[in-house]
Amino acid sequence: MWILLMSCCAVIFVVHIFCRMSRGITRSSTCLIGKTAIVTGANSGLGYQTALNLASRGCRVIMADVADMENSKLNIIKHTNNHNIIAKKLDLSSLQSVREFASDITKTEEELHILINNAGVPGSEENRTKDDLHPAMQINYFGHFLLTHLLINLLKKSAPSRIVFTSSILAFTNNLSLANLNFDESTSNNPKFYRHLCIYSNSKLALLIASDKFAEKLKGTGVISNSVHPGLVTTPIYDRAYSLVNSQIIELAWRCVHFFFAKDAWEGSQSLVHAAVSKKVGNLTGKYFADCKPFFKPLCAYDKKWCEEIWNATEELVHLKPNERL
Ligand SMILES: NC(=O)c1ccc[n+]([C@@H]2O[C@H](COP(=O)([O-])OP(=O)(O)OC[C@H]3O[C@@H](n4cnc5c(N)ncnc54)[C@H](OP(=O)(O)O)[C@@H]3O)[C@@H](O)[C@H]2O)c1
Repeated sequence: MWILLMSCCAVIFVVHIFCRMSRGITRSSTCLIGKTAIVTGANSGLGYQTALNLASRGCRVIMADVADMENSKLNIIKHTNNHNIIAKKLDLSSLQSVREFASDITKTEEELHILINNAGVPGSEENRTKDDLHPAMQINYFGHFLLTHLLINLLKKSAPSRIVFTSSILAFTNNLSLANLNFDESTSNNPKFYRHLCIYSNSKLALLIASDKFAEKLKGTGVISNSVHPGLVTTPIYDRAYSLVNSQIIELAWRCVHFFFAKDAWEGSQSLVHAAVSKKVGNLTGKYFADCKPFFKPLCAYDKKWCEEIWNATEELVHLKPNERL
């Protein structure tokens, strides 16, 4: 018994040390005075830390979130003394809100150098939005897909510019197909936890595929597109996940995993900041970063024909007009 316990402690200790030592930290000191960035989901967690980092480099940061961002905005101004911080409402679960936000940006902003598609939810109790899309897929994926299309001309005009998608290592556990791209939960008999996990994973794979396709379609324009796995990061997203799953055992187990292995939000934001600003990234496009280094992708992301089909189906689902397509 004692030997087993000691072995478990040793394994936890070794993995803990490995996790700490392998955390990628960006060494970039790029100055962003005169640059403009949009960060979605900037009110908390990774988005907030990323917005704070960009602001500390002198960037004009547009925080885009469904939440009231006044406190977060004031905190960023207080910590950076950069007053060029704007908070704009964006509800990614509504295609209309995305269109209104993008139209506001294209009317009011001369340039856009960095777009960080970061907002996300772990799942949703609801089954459909008013756009007849799955809410978690819409917030995590469809909304960002539409937003990026609507801002693409501004990004091109401001080149060199960068698009960053916050994906996840859970993209590897996807069961994405053309048939379940806009998943209808009411048709599934799978356990709740598994359903949420699949939808979240699918949305993160779809983001990774979209990032790759944007990279391919924007070659030669000076706009690069990359996706990022930030790591396992303790943020408010897990409070939402615990209340969705509603299982004390899963919550306790997951809190233990976080206690030993997770990054904090500053550490988690490092790969996002790296992809957005580092000179080391240079012209690299269509990459998937983890710990500030290119990482391999799920095998299906290399299937060009299938990825094209996912892209085309998404264009239909978000009602892209012919002149908005790339
Ligand atoms: N934490 C991790 O371990 C981890 C790992 C891999 C990937 N990620 C990804 O990282 C991204 C950031 O997550 P986080 O961990 O920083 O969680 P978080 O603190 O919950 O941040 C998510 C942000 O998205 C916002 N948001 C939610 N619904 C929205 C909507 N309809 N429209 C616009 N914004 C909305 C949230 O607003 P509210 O303040 O109103 O909730 C929040 O500010 C997510 O895409 C997540 O999937 C996280």
